[in-house]
Amino acid sequence: MSFLYKADPVRGAEWARLFAEQAPDIPFHCWPDYGAAEQVRYLAAWLPPENLASQFPNVEVVFSVGAGIDQFDFSLLPPDIPVVRMIEPGIAVGMVEYVTHAVLAIHRQSHLYARLQREQRWQEHPIKPAASCRIGVLGLGVMGQSVLSKLRDFGFPCAGWSRSAHALDGVDCYAGEDALPAFLARSDILICLLPLTQHTRGILNRKLFNALPAGAAVINVGRGGHLDEAALLEALASGQLSSATLDVCEIEPLPAGHPFWEHPNIVLTPHIASMTQPASAVEVVLDNIRRHQSGQPLIGLVDRSLGY
Ligand code: GLV
Repeated sequence: MSFLYKADPVRGAEWARLFAEQAPDIPFHCWPDYGAAEQVRYLAAWLPPENLASQFPNVEVVFSVGAGIDQFDFSLLPPDIPVVRMIEPGIAVGMVEYVTHAVLAIHRQSHLYARLQREQRWQEHPIKPAASCRIGVLGLGVMGQSVLSKLRDFGFPCAGWSRSAHALDGVDCYAGEDALPAFLARSDILICLLPLTQHTRGILNRKLFNALPAGAAVINVGRGGHLDEAALLEALASGQLSSATLDVCEIEPLPAGHPFWEHPNIVLTPHIASMTQPASAVEVVLDNIRRHQSGQPLIGLVDRSLGY
């Protein structure tokens, strides 16, 4: 029985060290050195091998090394193999840092002051209380909930929207398609933390932007596929949106010459909002392996019909 890791090799070396320490009974291999293929029972990958079923016929569980699993081609994964997405505290912590930083930068007008400094202008603008800046988070998974609980502590009025009903302390929760307009109408800063599925692809579109208060800001830390890029440029040009903070794009790396690069009201980062942290990831993967071995439910098991 062995474990195969197929993703970033530098972090793979770290996983190998942690496995040797914490699970010396599980032989660990880092792609492309997979050892005896028929021994591989567990696979952790960003992208599973295309011929998984024939090459590794005894795989019992596939783990995504990322929080998202939209990069997986499920038609290549036998339907009976459980797929587990990465739910580990390290990713949530990184996401909370990134989103908090982005929200505070918008709220405290960091962009404006950076420009004023470049122009050598000493000019003050009123500071608005956090209570006047309403935050809305699309997606109430572990990351959405962690982000909301941090932002709530700053005094921002917080709301969250998701497909299914949730109850979160100090957060107004909206659920389902019908509740979306009311949620959007009260979101001055909208944060997308949804999984990318057939239902959420292109959700950040003209209709959605028009349903936000005029001058709202959007932060996309979901996937590039959530965003209609042309609609964003249009909404920024009309002033319906004041800014966009984008950590993800439809095509990554963003192609040279793309209008987002030099847009004065777009803040762009190269998909670094958060990363799986080997120490905490290995802990949850090992816990899931033990669960699998003892017939307990897996944490983060993907429902293929929902796409997350
Ligand atoms: C990164 O985007 C991830 O899915 O973890």
